[in-house]
Amino acid sequence: MNVKKAIIPAAGLGTRFLPATKSMPKEMLPIIDTPVFQYVVEEAIESGIEDIIIITGRGKRAIEDYFDDSPELEMHLAKKHNTDLLKLVRDISSLVDIHYIRQKEPLGLGDAILRAEKHIGNEPFAVLLGDDIIVNDKPCTAQLIENFDKYGRSTIAVEEVPYEKLSSYGIIKGKLFDDSLYVLEDIVEKPAPEDAPSKIGAIGRYVFTPEIFDCIKAAGKGVGNEVQLTDGIRLLNESQTIYAYEFKGTRYDTGDKLGYVKAIVDFALRNDFLRDDVLEYLKLVTASETSLE
Ligand code: UTP
Repeated sequence: MNVKKAIIPAAGLGTRFLPATKSMPKEMLPIIDTPVFQYVVEEAIESGIEDIIIITGRGKRAIEDYFDDSPELEMHLAKKHNTDLLKLVRDISSLVDIHYIRQKEPLGLGDAILRAEKHIGNEPFAVLLGDDIIVNDKPCTAQLIENFDKYGRSTIAVEEVPYEKLSSYGIIKGKLFDDSLYVLEDIVEKPAPEDAPSKIGAIGRYVFTPEIFDCIKAAGKGVGNEVQLTDGIRLLNESQTIYAYEFKGTRYDTGDKLGYVKAIVDFALRNDFLRDDVLEYLKLVTASETSLE
């Protein structure tokens, strides 16, 4: 069965970005002029997803508004004959079929995914976390779907994580099976670095068989008294093979301050209108920093 549906959980509180996230979703933070979330939705669409379910929570209205029509703005741009901006604004609201489901309380990523169970039904589906941007010609989700199409089994995207960050990820133990592909043996949520089974962590992209829902439910609450997706994956792994794939591409964790700054700098350097001026500025800053040392 083809993977045509995706869940994008975006109901977390974004405490690492307070106070900004007091009144705006962290997923709407802009990378120069485009919210992080748009890159995530575009990745889903470019991977062949036709139906997107966004899990929202309190204070996340800006996400719905962003993907909705904006008649006043469109009228204003039309009056000013600003056709380029008008097209840009219209394209956003006609990207894809988007549905919203509310997670009443942020009880964890596993719980957020469970909210979409009825909508997904008995089909395989993708999950894209709303604060990871991954840049690559072939989108990360498309890479996972390719593996799913080949083996018919859940596949999670992984990458090597710095030692001091191991305790922020679900860390896997795996057996190398093929180029960049592991058969999952175990996964541990946020281990102390010295207890981590490897340096390879699950990032925010997954493709699951629908059996994951029952496994998340059966696992219940875990670390931090939250319903952890990792615990559901662990249970699923007892009855079905799961693959972990070291995806191709560059990932920006924009839910983390340094990751967010890196994304802005790299996107500016890839932008023809900004590149030269930004490079010039970075050189100036670097030179004055070095002279201070
Ligand atoms: P994070 O832990 O990175 O997001 O969850 P957070 O809780 O919003 O951020 P911090 O740590 O407080 O700064 C990973 C993803 O899971 C979603 C988040 O929105 C994010 O996309 N999530 C998390 C939910 O949808 N619901 C939850 O209950 C928890």
